[in-house]
Parts: sequence; C-alpha cells; structure tokens
Amino acid sequence: MTEQELKTKILKIGNLPRHIAIIMDGNGRWALSKKLPRIAGHREGINSVREITRECGELGIEVLTLYTFSKENWKRPIMEVSAIMKLLVETIRTEIDDLMKNNVRLNVIGRLDELPDKPRKEMETGIKRTASNTGLNLILALNYGARTEILDAVVKFCKDVENGDTHYENLTEELFQTYLYTNDFPDPDILIRTSGEYRISNFLLWQIAYTEIYFTSTPWPAFRKKQLYEAILNYQTRERRFGMVGEQMKRSTT
Ligand code: IPE
Ligand code: IPE
Ligand code: MG
Repeated sequence: MTEQELKTKILKIGNLPRHIAIIMDGNGRWALSKKLPRIAGHREGINSVREITRECGELGIEVLTLYTFSKENWKRPIMEVSAIMKLLVETIRTEIDDLMKNNVRLNVIGRLDELPDKPRKEMETGIKRTASNTGLNLILALNYGARTEILDAVVKFCKDVENGDTHYENLTEELFQTYLYTNDFPDPDILIRTSGEYRISNFLLWQIAYTEIYFTSTPWPAFRKKQLYEAILNYQTRERRFGMVGEQMKRSTT
C-alpha cells in the first residue's frame, strides 16, 4: 500500500490510539551502517522526530511520548553525551517555531533539574512558550528512568502523608498514578520500539501495564510517516481485553 492509501485506511478504521509512546532506538547503528559517526544518526533522528510529531498532530493523536535520553545513557562516552546535549539545545531552538505553528505543547518527564544548565533552560523556555497550545502534547522523556519515577512518586506520597495531606490507607492505583511524572496524561495505548531490540529499557514501567507493544526492525532515523501508519494499522487489528474475555469486549463495543 502507498503512504496515502495507508493513511486513508487508518483514518477510515478509526479507533486511533490516544497516546503513542516511542523508544527511539538505533540511531548509532543506522549511522555506523552508513560509515558515519554515531552522532550523524542522532542528527538524522531529529528529522524523524519532526515528521512523526507533525503527523501525530495531523492525525489528532492527543499525546506523543518520545524516549529521548535515559538515566542510563549518562554512562555513554562523554563525547557522545555532550554531542547529544548540544543537539538537544540546537533542536529545541530551531524547532520551537514549528511547534508553535502546529499548536504542539511541549512537556518533559524525567529529572529535568539534573540536566546541564543549557539544555535545562532551553527546555524550560520551550515548555513555557508552548504552554497554551491546545493540539498534540509532545512529551520528551529526558534523563528519564521509570524506576526512579516510581521512587520519586513514593517519596512525594510519603511527604504528603507526613504533612497530614493524605493517609496511607487512601493509596489506590488511581491515587498513586497522580504522583507520577505523567499524571496529567492517559497511559500509552501503543508503545513502539524501533531497531529490532525487544526490551523496555526502563521506560514507563507503571504506565504500560496494558499498553499494546509494537517492535519494528526499522532504525529510528528511517522511521517516518509510512512506518507510523503501519504501526497504527497493526494496533487497530488488536483486541485489547484488559483481563476480560473476547466476548465481553465485543458486547461493550456494539
Ligand atoms: C537511540 O539510539 C538514541 C539514544 C539512546 C540517545 P542509540 O544511540 O541507542 O543507537 P544504537 O541503539 O546504539 O544503534
Ligand atoms: C533506550 O535506548 C533509551 C532511549 C531510546 C533514549 P538504549 O539504546 O539506551 O537502550 P539499551 O541500552 O539498548 O537497552
Ligand atoms: Mg540503543
């Protein structure tokens, strides 16, 4: 099917995911396969980010979460880490007008306060400038680790108990999720991981309890509109049962 045919098809089927989360993996290997330095892969990956963000906005997706830099990624060679941080600053600066034009609201999850000054300030400016946009919510997971997110939530909850704002007996799944970085957003409906790796790498562990997972061998710099449509089409063929049986799901949709 051509790109356009795929798009028409997914729009006709409807039932689009509200929240798409992506582990953007394979930048380095994409570059090395072309005999380029790894950073060239991160650079090309930004073109994918731009295209996928625009497309999600056009499709009317509510939330797009992109795993941009994990807590564990600090362990990479210093040269790569500083190149990524520099790229981040440049990208926010150059893309912000496009985000404004497309009514995209920028958000960050992760420990933003631990980022170096320049990328932190750039992100804060981007978040402020786009705060009143009403279209797609673009969430960048930056210095993000899901286990840390859960621990941060536990600490916040304990403080509220200590202050007398709540009681530990009030703790339910619904209440706990309001302490997570993602508290304003619905859980992802689909999680896409590019580049042929079959793991979660400490991403959104709490939130993906019932998320549909889609793995593709395409590396992130080559993941564009067509690949997004293919992932959505695959999602649309799935039956989400949330622990129930198929018959119950059919009854609830008819
Ligand atoms: C994903 O691509 C980007 C980041 C983790 C920052 P990688 O840099 O992990 O690329 P591969 O997996 O080594 O090919
Ligand atoms: C996950 O990719 C993190 C991001 C995409 C930002 P990694 O490349 O860091 O994951 P591992 O190390 O292969 O599991
Ligand atoms: Mg990787």
